[in-house]
Amino acid sequence: MVTARDFLGRDVLTVGEFRRDELLFLLDAADKFERVTGTLLAGRVVATLFFEPSTRTRLSFESAVGRLGGSCIGFAEAGISSMAKGETVADTVRVVQGYCDLLLLRHPKEGTARLAAEFADIPVVNCGDGAHQHPTQTFVDLYTIRRECGRIDGLKIVFAGDLRYGRAVHSLVHVLTQFKAHVTLVAPDFLRLPQEQLRALDEMGVEYREMEDLEAAVPEADVLYMTRVQQERFTDPHEYLKFRDAYTLDLKILRRAKPEIVILHPLPRVTEIATEVDNHPHAAYFRQAHYGVAVRKALIALLLGHAEKVL
Ligand code: NCD
Repeated sequence: MVTARDFLGRDVLTVGEFRRDELLFLLDAADKFERVTGTLLAGRVVATLFFEPSTRTRLSFESAVGRLGGSCIGFAEAGISSMAKGETVADTVRVVQGYCDLLLLRHPKEGTARLAAEFADIPVVNCGDGAHQHPTQTFVDLYTIRRECGRIDGLKIVFAGDLRYGRAVHSLVHVLTQFKAHVTLVAPDFLRLPQEQLRALDEMGVEYREMEDLEAAVPEADVLYMTRVQQERFTDPHEYLKFRDAYTLDLKILRRAKPEIVILHPLPRVTEIATEVDNHPHAAYFRQAHYGVAVRKALIALLLGHAEKVL
């Protein structure tokens, strides 16, 4: 049986480190933490080291810490830290860990969170490392799916957009292998899910199919997970422009959807969801962003050993 103790002091580097029962434990904890505010984290300090832009991840973490009575230090841009003077990530981590109890790290290079964890004696949470993984986004996505659909198991989940570089997609697809979901991957050939991830789905016996036509995929979706084309990962700006508008979800396309479809997006949205969709009753992407606070409250309290009073 999973208990709060199983989370104490853990790093959160990839979703693969979490078993299904642990994920469900976290989602249940998030339910309980949703309305909790107070002084649970009084005197605890969380550091955000963000070397890439962020709105939701950083601010929902900061909100979560603040609502539980802890405090945050950190930077949201490498240019204002000593990295600008040539300090390495390893040295930055070695120093900052002496100022806090938990490190939240976002970096453009894959594997940086793992590297940071090697140098830190306190827990490190990967808040996005290049095109690799974004585990806490996946926790929020799972929470949103369960809350909006009432379950996760057996759902038909359609991913559309940049499946090549989208780290939120990479983490969520991986985790869905534990929930018997049926996965449809909609992308132009250039932006397909990377081969090694397709192989992993094959090895785990996950049913998936690949398509290029969003309109054809929508009618069967229980959940439609739209994604932004990741401009910052393209080396050739012309290539980016070729794909930026590959898909735009609008009300016309949604006319063919199941009435109970749930539309998700990790955000930020550029052109892939028309604003006319925002008032659709099942457009859940802003709720998804808000659920981030409950999930991150639960996660931090668990990692720092303060969740037992609430659970
Ligand atoms: C995502 C990310 O940073 O990977 N954003 C987020 O954390 N909500 C998705 C994206 O930037 O497209």
